[in-house]
Amino acid sequence: MDYYSLDELEVMQQNDFIRAAVDRVGVGVVIADPEQEDTPVVYVNKGFEELTGYEAKDVLGRNCRFLQGEDTESENLDKIRDALKSKENMKVELRNYRKDGSEFWNELQIYTVFIEKLNQDFFVGVQQDVTKRVEAERLVGHYSTEVKRLSTPIVPVEDGVSILPLIGNVDDERLQQMLDAVSNHVQEEKEDYLILDLSGVSFFNEEIHIGIYQLNQLLNLMGTTLILSGVTPKFAMGSTPYANFSELSLRSYTSVRQALERIRNDIQI
Ligand SMILES: Cc1cc2nc3c(=O)[nH]c(=O)nc-3n(C[C@H](O)[C@H](O)[C@H](O)COP(=O)(O)O)c2cc1C
Repeated sequence: MDYYSLDELEVMQQNDFIRAAVDRVGVGVVIADPEQEDTPVVYVNKGFEELTGYEAKDVLGRNCRFLQGEDTESENLDKIRDALKSKENMKVELRNYRKDGSEFWNELQIYTVFIEKLNQDFFVGVQQDVTKRVEAERLVGHYSTEVKRLSTPIVPVEDGVSILPLIGNVDDERLQQMLDAVSNHVQEEKEDYLILDLSGVSFFNEEIHIGIYQLNQLLNLMGTTLILSGVTPKFAMGSTPYANFSELSLRSYTSVRQALERIRNDIQI
């Protein structure tokens, strides 16, 4: 039977406390030894086993790269390599794979910790499954791109003529989106005319007037004539401080139909 001194028992109890606590922190914790060949894992907690499906015995003595796969982003691995080389703390989100091959997003933090008793540095890795958040962020990103795309629909109406109906509120971001969409479209389709229909705009602010001014300049450079439709007297008056549309020789009509008729007349002449 082994006998322990009170001091030794105290140390063992402390270690048990710490181990039990680290096992229950709800994240993966890994310690790797950079003094050994290929920086092998020397400790994993229960959280790591639960997160990855690997047991400690599968993992001890191996480098943590076994969690990676074909789709793990190489720029993140560069970031890890750099941080380990300079022993700087770091955080990355990377694609990892569990023992059963299923994929998860790992928010990995690595810290360098100096252990005085052993007179050496160790790397401590903390892994957290952030798959739900990453997927939600991607979905939001996808829908916001889709909403932006749908908010600037450029509709071809006949040869060389397209209409862009502006609907709802127009802010800086949407104007930028409009300028981008129009320049891409005109570059591809080489339109002669673009009708910007303002009848669905709920209120006119400074951004809209400036945006139209910029759009006109852009289209001029590309050899396309900008025509405004749905212009109300309120809009025309509001535009004076920002851009004098009559000076810009911008043609404006009260409706799309009227604008189209005038264009057809132009083409016939
Ligand atoms: C403590 C520690 C924990 C690590 N945990 C992970 C991990 O959870 N997932 C992962 O893909 N890489 C992890 N790594 C990174 C890899 O072990 C390795 O450093 C990385 O793949 C870059 O090196 P390599 O080019 O030699 O593969 C960890 C590294 C250390 C030091």
